[in-house]
Amino acid sequence: MKIISNPVELKEYLKYKKESIGFVPTMGALHEGHISLIKKAKEENELVIVSIFLNPTQFLKGEDLDKYPKKDDADKHICKLSGVDVLFFPHSYDIYGDDEVSLSAPNVRGYVLEGTSRPSHFNGVLTVVMKLLNIVNPTRAYFGKKDAQQLNLISLMIKQLFMSTLIVPVDTVRENDGLALSSRNVYLSSSERKDALKISASLHSAGIMVSKNILDSKEIIKKMREVLSPLEIFYVEILNRDFEQISHVEIGNTVILVEAKAGTTRLLDNIWL
Ligand code: PAJ
Repeated sequence: MKIISNPVELKEYLKYKKESIGFVPTMGALHEGHISLIKKAKEENELVIVSIFLNPTQFLKGEDLDKYPKKDDADKHICKLSGVDVLFFPHSYDIYGDDEVSLSAPNVRGYVLEGTSRPSHFNGVLTVVMKLLNIVNPTRAYFGKKDAQQLNLISLMIKQLFMSTLIVPVDTVRENDGLALSSRNVYLSSSERKDALKISASLHSAGIMVSKNILDSKEIIKKMREVLSPLEIFYVEILNRDFEQISHVEIGNTVILVEAKAGTTRLLDNIWL
């Protein structure tokens, strides 16, 4: 596995490659969720590139940038064992300069759900993903459905800016008890982890209601909020795949999203129905 930190060097290395390229952007502290993205990229492409870059611009002041888990050696090992061809591991100064051109998230879709309490978060996400895609120029890029709003906004950026990479959504990987894997789960104490299970349980209860043909969004949200209690809830939303609110679940076109806090840790989860 080649490890490259300089964007110009990576572009040069890839310049004459004719193979299809699968790209998996990450912020490190890799877990089975990330590995499932890498596996899918391996299945569908001749070359696989993973980036590890803890992107400062998507963290707001006071968020967990400084304490975000760092596992550089373990991450390199995981990438090597997973058959990654190139690990792109830039420093902040390799990616950002002074007085930068940057991208803004759309005024509506970038400022709902996670964007309500984290304004500017998605500006940082879109800016870095644009830079990474321009450096790697992949055939396909892999993103988790767990970060559904991020996936939606990146897909929108690709479409609206007429970019040619194909975005491939990948299913959420969970622990056996239902907790969605996240690099931030290490922040949870054992009692907070138990509380966090209410998040996947609330989504499970929504799935059961839908299987019984209870499709009314208000009714489902009410039940989910009961299951989530007493967690601090940021939002529970039932949206169509274009991220518009819908009064009734439309099978095959719905995503149900939750963000809630266990201890001091904000956790996201969703199901696609
Ligand atoms: P990070 O949180 O490291 O996640 C990298 C990718 O892994 C994202 O596409 C995310 O949706 C996916 N992922 C995380 N947990 C997952 C799980 N349990 N199952 C499946 N996929 C999962 O998301 C980011 O980094 C950053 O915002 C990034 C896109 C790299 C831009 O900085």
